[in-house]
Amino acid sequence: MRIDVVTIFPEYFSPLDLSLVGKARTTGLLDLRVHDLRDWATDRHRTVDDSPLGGGAGMVMRPDVWGQALDAILGSPTAPGTELIIPTPSGSPFTQRTAERLAAVPHLVVACGRYEGIDARVAEHYRAQGVAVTELSLGDYVLNGGEVAALVVVEAVARLLPGVVGNPESLVEESHGAAGLLEYPVYTRPPQWREHTVPPVLLSGHHGRIARWRRDQAFERTAALRPDLMRRLVPGDLDEHDRNLLAVLGWSVTDAGVVPGSETVAD
Ligand code: ADE
Repeated sequence: MRIDVVTIFPEYFSPLDLSLVGKARTTGLLDLRVHDLRDWATDRHRTVDDSPLGGGAGMVMRPDVWGQALDAILGSPTAPGTELIIPTPSGSPFTQRTAERLAAVPHLVVACGRYEGIDARVAEHYRAQGVAVTELSLGDYVLNGGEVAALVVVEAVARLLPGVVGNPESLVEESHGAAGLLEYPVYTRPPQWREHTVPPVLLSGHHGRIARWRRDQAFERTAALRPDLMRRLVPGDLDEHDRNLLAVLGWSVTDAGVVPGSETVAD
């Protein structure tokens, strides 16, 4: 997979030399290139921003500089299988499903805005050219620019590429996986640390009981912390044991899906 990142702070991306993403780059699984947007500025001061039309605080990134940079990197016409990602707090939520989809895209170009963002005509222009353009938000808070979001997207996508995570089974049961639950708590040796012991079932060697305990823990955590995920559970994926546990946790499985409270039987 190839990823190009365009930024006015290339140094932000040095962590991508480390750990599994760094290794994926040296082994050639990931071709990641970081570009300085100012290389496409044309004035002596290498200016990339200007004041917002219509007034208001802050600065907006100029479409002409972004246009030069993106024409060069996207190519014209842009090859099929290329997607332009623009991190912005006004984008759609970046989720594990987004990461899974992007991991199958051969070429991602990530445009990092600063200040109040990138002139809106940039996304509009490349969409009109037939380029897939996705504006993504990490969450409902505001960062100083797209760089941290780009780091998050690159790491979340790169670890899904075949061969990047040594044991692909570790991708199966993690939080936000196919089950739609938060992950169960994990423990290692020693079985007693300070005054804390490990749940005895994990030392029982009984795989069936361990799997059941982990699933119960996943439901308990998800019910306590993420009611939004509970509502998205698929009734067909829930067995009798799950349904009884959900009832204890205050959720019922109805024709309308998983809902808080005890089931009301319509007559
Ligand atoms: N840029 C600034 N804030 C952001 C956010 N929450 N997500 C993605 N990009 C951003």
